[in-house]
Amino acid sequence: MPNVAIITCSDKGHAGAREDKAGPAIRHILEAHGYSVVEQILLPDDQARIEAAMKRLCDEVGVNLICTTGGTGFSTRDVTPEATLAVVERLCPGIPEAIRAYSLTITPRAMLSRAVAGIRGRTLIVNLPGSPKAVTECLEYAIDALGHGLDILLGKDAECARV
Ligand code: MTE
Repeated sequence: MPNVAIITCSDKGHAGAREDKAGPAIRHILEAHGYSVVEQILLPDDQARIEAAMKRLCDEVGVNLICTTGGTGFSTRDVTPEATLAVVERLCPGIPEAIRAYSLTITPRAMLSRAVAGIRGRTLIVNLPGSPKAVTECLEYAIDALGHGLDILLGKDAECARV
């Protein structure tokens, strides 16, 4: 199974003012689906630091998937999509489009998510929202399709199943 890194982007979490429950929620879901979590890190909402972490995880650690949580909203400190766009080489717009479409069936506030997804080399990066509830809803919805996409990216599935 692919290996994965989780990045929680949160000023309050990084400062110790709020317990990070979203990162562990992602880990729980990924591990239940057989993924190996090789790193789980907590960063402030600092674009340069998020970009540097993503580049290291893609280029040096060589993870197959990076899931971020937080920093996708309207706060002036929310920069996770900007950091992601700065490091990816190919956009995957269908992933956030689908997650938002599904999430809008749960709450109209899903329209406030600025999440993006894209590919750098052989790593898929997916932004997820910040709350444990939202991140669980979004990842559980997307995880099967993400697995299929990773199979294709990593060359394990030459042909899409005709189902
Ligand atoms: N998506 C789902 N599935 N469920 C939610 O409760 N909350 C929304 C949205 N996406 C939500 C959701 C809200 S309130 C915001 S502000 C945006 O995600 C961005 O969240 P973030 O700033 O914590 O990343």
